Parts: sequence; structure tokens; C-alpha cells
Amino acid sequence: MPESMLGLKRSHRCTELGTADIGRKVTVMGWVQKSRNKGGIIFVDLRDRSGILQIIFEEKDCGPEGFAKAEKLRSEFVIAVVGRVEARTGAVNQNLATGSIEVRAESLRILSESETPPFPIEENSKTREELRLKYRFLDLRRPDLQRNLMLRSRIAVLTRQFLAEEGFLEIETPTLIKSTPEGARDYLVPSRVHPGSFYALPQSPQLFKQLLMCAGYDRYFQLARCYRDEDLRADRQPEFTQIDMELSFADVDDVLDVNERLIHKLFKEILNIEIPLPIPRMTWQEAMDRYGSDKPDIRFGMELTNVSEVVKDSKFVVFHNALEAGGTVRGINAKGQGAMPRKKIDALVEFAKGYGAKGLAYIAIQPDGTRKSSFAKFMTEEEMTALIAAMDGEPGDLLLFAADKNKVVWDVLGALRVEIAGQLGLLKKDDFRFLWVTEFPLLEYSEEQGRFVAMHHPFTMPMDEDWHLIDSDPGAVRAKAYDIVLNGTELGGGSVRIHQSDIQSKMFEVLGFTPEKAQEQFGFLLEAFKYGVPPHAGLAYGLDRVAMLMGGCDSIREVIAFPKVKDASCLMTEAPSPVDAKQLEELGIEISESVTGE
Ligand code: AMO
Ligand code: AMP
Repeated sequence: MPESMLGLKRSHRCTELGTADIGRKVTVMGWVQKSRNKGGIIFVDLRDRSGILQIIFEEKDCGPEGFAKAEKLRSEFVIAVVGRVEARTGAVNQNLATGSIEVRAESLRILSESETPPFPIEENSKTREELRLKYRFLDLRRPDLQRNLMLRSRIAVLTRQFLAEEGFLEIETPTLIKSTPEGARDYLVPSRVHPGSFYALPQSPQLFKQLLMCAGYDRYFQLARCYRDEDLRADRQPEFTQIDMELSFADVDDVLDVNERLIHKLFKEILNIEIPLPIPRMTWQEAMDRYGSDKPDIRFGMELTNVSEVVKDSKFVVFHNALEAGGTVRGINAKGQGAMPRKKIDALVEFAKGYGAKGLAYIAIQPDGTRKSSFAKFMTEEEMTALIAAMDGEPGDLLLFAADKNKVVWDVLGALRVEIAGQLGLLKKDDFRFLWVTEFPLLEYSEEQGRFVAMHHPFTMPMDEDWHLIDSDPGAVRAKAYDIVLNGTELGGGSVRIHQSDIQSKMFEVLGFTPEKAQEQFGFLLEAFKYGVPPHAGLAYGLDRVAMLMGGCDSIREVIAFPKVKDASCLMTEAPSPVDAKQLEELGIEISESVTGE
């Protein structure tokens, strides 16, 4: 029968004790990490979220009854110990914060017993993730996850504090909202009261925060839950949290300024790292040309070089055809990798194909200056020399080229440089390189939909100097949109918003909305815009991504208490799950057999 807390009060967390407390009577509580019985003496490692404290039981201190209880302790039992802090009797443990003290137990209560857990509760667990997620309540006891969630909490608290001091109001917006088809797929919630109608869960608070600006709240923020039904990756979850903000009477610089100071504060106070301000800025065009990515990792070089001009007269069909079709030929120079074995180069070619490349042409310049190349036979010696010179190629270098449409070339080489940098150990997790990417294109052409779609969202302000191109060359219009990028990950994004109804109507027209359709979807916003709108701009971070990078984690699942797996299910609760026929009936929903396969 488990004992109660009656009359007991915890005096300290495990690692709140130190040598200064020697002689002090304390009450500590937590989980048994491990228990070793050495005959007349029992050592217990007691664990709570702060860390580990050694408890020592001897009959002379805790009495025969207490000692008999201590003999029963097993891993993950929950106990309360009253005892006295003393200097370690055995060897001092340098690895523990409390390594030079222990608590000599005078009494013990077993508050709860535990079955043997399905995997050991330990740091750097080797247990496969599926099992850890099924027993997430146990997994969450592990020190690395506890550290991650405490870090995440610090980020949230400091963000609130900073933004409040900067005059931002924390305001909640609804999570049962109207479905709007732009962006990712919505999660839908059926209405019982309005059979056949659905709410959507918000992909972001975008429209509501703009309405708050219309309503004069002037600076808003929220730690907002967002939901997107999209394919999951290491840095994506179907539900995630944004640090979302919006500012009135603000332009690009105002948003960037306050956010640079927020980032500076978080890194300084949490990691004691000084992020140099201002954070560098790069236009989208420059990011694509130099790094093949709109979220460049600038911890290392290996930049792209456009060699289209150099090879424009080449007879090599791969280059020739790509240029003929309006594409480009670009390359990267993996310095010092010229001696890479053929097998590894072939693996890079396969990697490139995964990003849509038809192939990857290479020149491996050997240390003695001789070359191994997949396409030398199609080139003249002069062409090869010119190409190598354009790439800054020296003996010992590996030059890799992709020829295709711009988008494919960028994707392939952008991914390849990160892959190679990873293999070379150039991606240091504690090297934090921030970058603003600015002047994104307003629109991108969707082959799938056969029309232009908004690159950010339909409320993003075009750049004044480009607006006249909106009919003649919509793809060339840049937007007042920006992303904050850290080490190759998009941490956040935002834009200045359109606050003029004529520009907004034109945007809807370009995006293929009829005035009726625009009215039906966004009528409330258009209506609000009739009654005095302040110019406004904003930004949202993925809080999970911020925590992931600050915590040095490889996946956002490591900083989310109860994450979902790739197929968007929760292995612990087994959501989503079928529901009672009665629930469906109330909602007027019938499940079609073609879906369930029955
Ligand atoms: P955006 O769609 O760029 O902008 O989202 C902002 C940030 O949210 C994070 N994020 C995600 N994190 C985890 N899982 C996901 N599935 C996921 N999707 C997005 C990213 C991203 O940078 N309303 C606009 C912001 C604005 O304009 O103010 C918006 O939502 O870190
Ligand atoms: P092939 O003549 O098809 O054997 O191609 C010669 C070389 O060019 C091979 O190394 C291919 O991998 C490479 N290659 C093929 N297509 C492309 C491409 N689109 N871009 C760069 N290299 C390519």
C-alpha cells in the first residue's frame, strides 16, 4: 500500500543541494534511478527533473523498518526521504552536480511502486523511437528530454517577457475558424449544430492578427497552436506552435529590429551566446544564386557558380540541351575532395537524383593535377581549362555540375553542398549563423494548379518599385517578405501586409479569385479594410524549430512533449481513431466504404 505525503513537504530538488548544505536536514522526493544493496548499506540514486542525488541507507540511521523498506526499492519507485546532507563517504563523482555530497536517510516513504519499465530511463537512449513514443510518459523522464522541455519553457517565458516590455499585447485568437484553401491542407472539424458545415483548425492566426491591427491593438503577439495537414519531416509536425506577432505603423526594418533584439536576448540568456547584430541580410535572388536555397546554411562556403556562359558553346549534349531549354549550368567546388573514391561520387550522383537531377557531371582533380571526369570526352581541352578556372579548381578539388531548369539546378546543388558539408563535419551545431532572406518573389507559378499562387500568402505587400509589372510579368514582382534563417533552417517568416483594398483586389485577381470568391472567402477582412487600416507587418517563428536548434536536436519531436509520427498519428494515445456510430450520426456524417476499404 503506497504511503501518503501526510506531514511531508519537499524542501529541495535533488541538485539544489551542495556542499554548503552539509549538516542540513532535508526532505527530497523523486524517482529511484538505481538502487545498489551492498549488504548493510544501500545506495540509491534519486532522480527528479533537476538531476540526481545519492541517498545512503543504513539501519543505524533509518531503523530496521526503514532499512527493510529501502531493500525493496526498484527503478522508478517514487519515494520521499528525510535525511541529513553529508560529504560523500565514497569517491566523489565529478560528473554529477551533487557529486561531492549525499543524503543520509533517516526515514523513507514509498509513495508509489513501479513495474519494470519497457526501456531504461537514461540519457542518449538507444531505444528505438517508436517504443519511446508509445511510452512517451516514461520517455519524458529521460534527462535529455527534460532538458529540452525546460529549454523550451525558458524560450516561451523570455519571449513573453521581452515582447511585453516592448509594448506587445498577448491576445488569443480562435482555433475553430473558417476554412481557407490557400497554403497547406486544413484540418476540418464537423459542426453538429450546422450539419454539413465544418470549422477548420487555423494554419496560423494570420487573418485574426491583421484584424487586431485594424482594431487598433497596434502590437500583438501570441504563442499560437497551428495545424497543417501536410507531409511530415524532421522539422514539421501537423500541430506546432508559432511565436506569432504583428505590428502596426511598421515597415520591414521595424519588424527585423525588434526580432533581432528578441533573438539576441534568447541566445544570451539561455545559451550565453552573443549573436552579433545586425543579423546579415540577403535577398532571395542572391540566396538562390549563391546557395541554391532560400534558407542558406552560411556556416560554410561551397557556393554555387553559374558557368552557363563558360560552357555555352560546348558540344556536351547535357549542357547544351539544358541551356537551349532556357536552363543553366552551375557547379560547386568541394575543396580538397578530388581524391574522393568513385563509389562515394556515385553515391552523390544518386543523392542528386533524389532532388530531381537527371545526373551530375564531375571533374575530380587529382593532387598531381590529372583529372578524372564523367564528361571530359565531350569537351575540348580549352573548354575544360576554362571551366576549371571559372570554378577556382585546384589540384585536389572535386567539381560537381548540374545542368537543368534553374529550379532543379538550385535544388540539387543547394542540397548537395549541405550533404557534402555534413559528410565533412562542417555543420557544427554550436555555431549559430543567422540570416535574413528578404525580397522574396510575390508569386510562384504552380504547374499543378496552372496559375500563380502566393509565395507567402495573399496579403503580402508587393515591393513598390515592382508593382507595375503585376500584369506584364507577375513572376518578376518581389514582395516585402522576409524569412529568418538559422543554419539552413527556416525559423520564421513574415511580411508587410497589403492595407489598400485596390492592391488587395488586384492580388486576388492575379491569384485567380473572382470578386465573388474573394468575398466569400475573405469577406470579413475586405470589409474590415473599408474602415481605416493602419499599415502593418508581422512575423511568426516556429517555436518548435527555435527550441530544436537551440537544444542541438535533430528533430522537432525532441522538443515537443507529445509529438506525432510521420503518418500524423500519436503512438501513445493511438489518435486518430474511429468514433462511435452515434457521434457520426449526430454530425450527419457517413464514412464511405472506399475510404475504410470495408
Ligand atoms: P509560415 O507559414 O512561414 O508563416 O510559418 C511560420 C513558421 O512556422 C513554422 N512552421 C512549422 N513548424 C513546425 N511544423 C510545421 N508543419 C510548420 N509549418 C510552419 C516555421 C515557419 O517559418 N502567418 C505567417 C507568418 C506571418 O506572415 O506573420 C505564417 O504562418 O518555422
Ligand atoms: P551521359 O552522356 O548521359 O552518360 O552523361 C554524361 C555525364 O553527365 C554523366 O556523368 C551524367 O551523370 C551527367 N549528367 C547527365 N545529366 C546531367 C545533368 N542534367 N546535369 C549534370 N550532369 C548530368
